[in-house]
Amino acid sequence: MMLKIALIVGSTRPQRFADTPGKWIVQAAKTRKDFELDVLDLRDQNLPFFEEPLPVIYTGGAYSHPAAEAWRQKLGAYDGFIVTAAEYNHGPTEVLKNALDSAYNEWHRKPIAFVGYGGVGGARAIEHLRGIAIELKMAPIKQEVNIAMEPMLGILRQGKSLDDYAYLAQSRDALFDELVWWADALKVARAKAVSEPIAA
Ligand SMILES: Cc1cc2nc3c(=O)[nH]c(=O)nc-3n(C[C@H](O)[C@H](O)[C@H](O)COP(=O)(O)O)c2cc1C
Repeated sequence: MMLKIALIVGSTRPQRFADTPGKWIVQAAKTRKDFELDVLDLRDQNLPFFEEPLPVIYTGGAYSHPAAEAWRQKLGAYDGFIVTAAEYNHGPTEVLKNALDSAYNEWHRKPIAFVGYGGVGGARAIEHLRGIAIELKMAPIKQEVNIAMEPMLGILRQGKSLDDYAYLAQSRDALFDELVWWADALKVARAKAVSEPIAA
C-alpha cells in the first residue's frame, strides 16, 4: 500500500533558502517505491494568522476561516509529513507554527520529520517543533537532516549543491526509512482504532 507523505515548505519569505532542501527532498523521493510525496508550500495556502473564535475541540475539528478549513481538509489525505525547518531566533518560523495551529484532528497519530537548516542545522527550531508535534498528538521521529553553516555557505557562496554532501544524503535516506516505518505502522493502527474516540 503506497503511503502518502506531504512535504511542507515551512518558510515563505522572498528568496527563502527553503527551496533548496525542498527540491532536494522532492528529487530523492522520486526514487522511492514506498511512498509518494506531494509538496504543500505554505506560500500557496493563504492561511490567515490564527483567528478562530472557538477552540477547535468545541467545533468537531472544523475551522471557521475557509483557508484554514481547506488546509486541514488537505492534510487529512496524508499518512505523514516532512517539514523544511528554518530557524528564526532559535524557534520555528511563525508561518509554520501558524500552519500547525491551523489544523488539529488531521495531524493526529501521524509521524512528522524535520529537515532543518541554519547555523546549527535548525536543531533548536526542530526541538521546539517536536514538542509542538506531541501536543498535536503526532509522532515526531528521531531522524532529521541538519544543514548547518558549512553546507549552507557552500551552497550560497560557492555554487555547491546539497548533493555535494554525502552525509546529508545519508541522513535524508534514514529519515525517509524511519518516517515510512512510522507512517505504515500508524496507518494500520488508525484504521483499527477508527471506532474509538480520540481523547482530547
Ligand atoms: C528573523 C530571523 C531570525 C533568524 N534566527 C536564526 C537563528 O536563531 N538561528 C539560525 O541558525 N539562523 C537564524 N536566522 C538565519 C536563517 O537561518 C536564514 O536566514 C535562513 O535562510 C532562513 O530560512 P529561509 O531562507 O528558508 O527563510 C534567522 C533569520 C531570520 C530572518
